[in-house]
Amino acid sequence: MLVWWRDSGETAHPLCESHHIVTVTPSEIGIRAAEPVNITSRGQSAYPSMLQPLALAGKRLRNRIVHLSMTTFSNRDAKVGTTLLNYCASRARGGAAMLVTEPISMARHQHLGTRADAWNDSDLDGLRRLAEAVESEDCRLIAQLLERGRARNQPGRSFDGFGMSALPDDLSWSMPRTLLRSEIAPLIDEYAQSAARLKRCGFSGIEISAGHGHFFHQTLSPWSNRRDDEYGGDLEGRTRLLRELIEALRGACGQDFIVGLCAGRADRTLSLG
Ligand SMILES: Cc1cc2nc3c(=O)[nH]c(=O)nc-3n(C[C@H](O)[C@H](O)[C@H](O)COP(=O)(O)O)c2cc1C
Repeated sequence: MLVWWRDSGETAHPLCESHHIVTVTPSEIGIRAAEPVNITSRGQSAYPSMLQPLALAGKRLRNRIVHLSMTTFSNRDAKVGTTLLNYCASRARGGAAMLVTEPISMARHQHLGTRADAWNDSDLDGLRRLAEAVESEDCRLIAQLLERGRARNQPGRSFDGFGMSALPDDLSWSMPRTLLRSEIAPLIDEYAQSAARLKRCGFSGIEISAGHGHFFHQTLSPWSNRRDDEYGGDLEGRTRLLRELIEALRGACGQDFIVGLCAGRADRTLSLG
């Protein structure tokens, strides 16, 4: 199941219906975003649904509390380290019903010492131990798929980034090369095979990071996606890569796997509805 967050009062885009994308508003799942939890004088929560269970892709969440992705930079040699494992396990023990990991490398080119590798079998043991540590606390473990594209988080320019179009990153002024059309299907396949590996290791799902100006965000925005092939242009074109990715993830991981998408709600150029 894919859950697409929308503002109250907005209607879902027709693409959501045709691609079985469930759209929710904060109030529909009992959460008022960016407001402090308010316990009334009678001891009743202003968020009565917060502690209610929820089913996602056939998986049970004991409440509606999700711990978002936080990069720890704590791993070495592209393997799950003890710090990451303890960090995630203690958040699960603390009560979160679902936890999104820091980005995990799901394609060979993403390999980075501080991120766990899931694009090959080199750290199956570490990934299994991470899943066991979190899932045994009744917390669903979600791996984050983050493709940085033209963006760069560290100081300095990136010399190997790719983008939907060859437009500079406005923070680092890195100039990406344009991702070739022929590279898209193999890339999606590599992500999907990695997701299937994570599922075999005990993960409950995957989150596609499509905010923060990273690659999947760049595919959606008309400012960063100026392609004139079928992966650019109108909304249908700009969502094509993500829709193909979601289909591939479903195909590789089945229906009993949570597939989430984190999109930038503040980006009004997206008009996703
Ligand atoms: C130290 C730190 C590391 C983060 N790393 C990631 C990350 O790797 N991936 C990601 O999507 N968001 C990352 N975030 C963003 C958080 O997940 C979250 O969206 C942000 O803190 C805003 O939270 P809020 O909506 O509760 O205010 C990070 C935030 C912080 C403070």
